[in-house]
Amino acid sequence: MLLTHATLATMTDRPDFVEDAAIQLEGERIAWVGPMSEAPVRDGSVNLGGRLVTPGLIDCHTHLVHGGNRAREFKMRLDGASYEEVAQAGGGIVSTVRATRAASEADLLSSALGRLDRMLAEGVTTVEVKSGYGLTVADELKLLRVARALERARPVTVHATLLAAHAVPPEFKGRADDYLHEVCIPALHAAHAEGLVDSVDGFCEGIAFSPAQIERVFVEARKLGLPVRLHAEQLSNLGGAALAARHGALSADHLEYLDAAGALAMAEAGTVAVILPGAFYTLRETQPPPIDLLRQHGVRMAVATDCNPGTAPMTSLPLAMNMACTLFRMTPDEVLAGVTTHAAAALGLSDRGRIAVGQRADLAIWEARDPAELSYRIGATPLYARIHGGRLDA
Ligand code: NIG
Ligand code: FE
Repeated sequence: MLLTHATLATMTDRPDFVEDAAIQLEGERIAWVGPMSEAPVRDGSVNLGGRLVTPGLIDCHTHLVHGGNRAREFKMRLDGASYEEVAQAGGGIVSTVRATRAASEADLLSSALGRLDRMLAEGVTTVEVKSGYGLTVADELKLLRVARALERARPVTVHATLLAAHAVPPEFKGRADDYLHEVCIPALHAAHAEGLVDSVDGFCEGIAFSPAQIERVFVEARKLGLPVRLHAEQLSNLGGAALAARHGALSADHLEYLDAAGALAMAEAGTVAVILPGAFYTLRETQPPPIDLLRQHGVRMAVATDCNPGTAPMTSLPLAMNMACTLFRMTPDEVLAGVTTHAAAALGLSDRGRIAVGQRADLAIWEARDPAELSYRIGATPLYARIHGGRLDA
């Protein structure tokens, strides 16, 4: 397939913005990129009439697979309850755990497909999907199996993350260490043995797990050769980002309460900062993540939806881009890198996220000319077409 008369945001270091360009796709890969004047002449080319082409979008942090919803908790928070108070009252993550345990694999797949389809309709070609609402070995594996099934059901690449260290379930209340020993670590080994897991995440927070507890999980993950990532510094500063960096984490996510030492540690380890404005917005957080500090240290920033029923009931990655610009003053260029090349880095993937020879032919084609048009609109995504692995969506 030869795409002609395209405007490209290549997300490479070289001239990033190329007008009147052509891209040749061969199988699942990009075979050639360059100016129209040098394009290989071909029958059956697709004339894009100047439309913008970006790498397919990568949503590198989602809790896409879950049962139920948390509209009730939304009302409680509007009445003044905090996220922590809702969690302590038996709501929060644990209420989604109840709904998720009660759901069959087929139910979970069908509700997740509904959300996934909305993501694909906004240009996503790779999505990370976490477990973390099962919290028994069997239920965590059930979630990871559904994550893998998504990839068979739709033209998308799924990166599956085990997040068994998400919350302490009611049956282990006050016994977080026992939970890690009896559920989290065995789930990790079982998921790895079944080939269900690509990386390992945790929630390092007062209402979840301490740095020492997270470290136990990370040590086990690293023994199995699995990369790690962490929900860190979302509600308070426990030094989670620096802990993650010490374990060579692919990413540390949220980061509203990140300090200079944490940013420095991330820079040195090459850990990507995943910025999640949807959770910030939903929780009415007032402290933004320290974007300037991350810039100063040269930490790569990704942007993701955090799609989850509690703190980010959203599927729109372009809306997350818009929020990162308006709430955090990230630039349109930064947020585009944040959902392409830096999001790929957050998943440890070097074969996507840029438009260059040899990269996967995962592309989004937009009814737009200027990349800023992707982040400036609210609730209206100008997707024209999507290509995953060289195949154009029907
Ligand atoms: O990324 N912070 C922890 N985990 C999710 C929220 C999960 C939930 O509230 O269900 C997050 O914000
Ligand atoms: Fe999350």
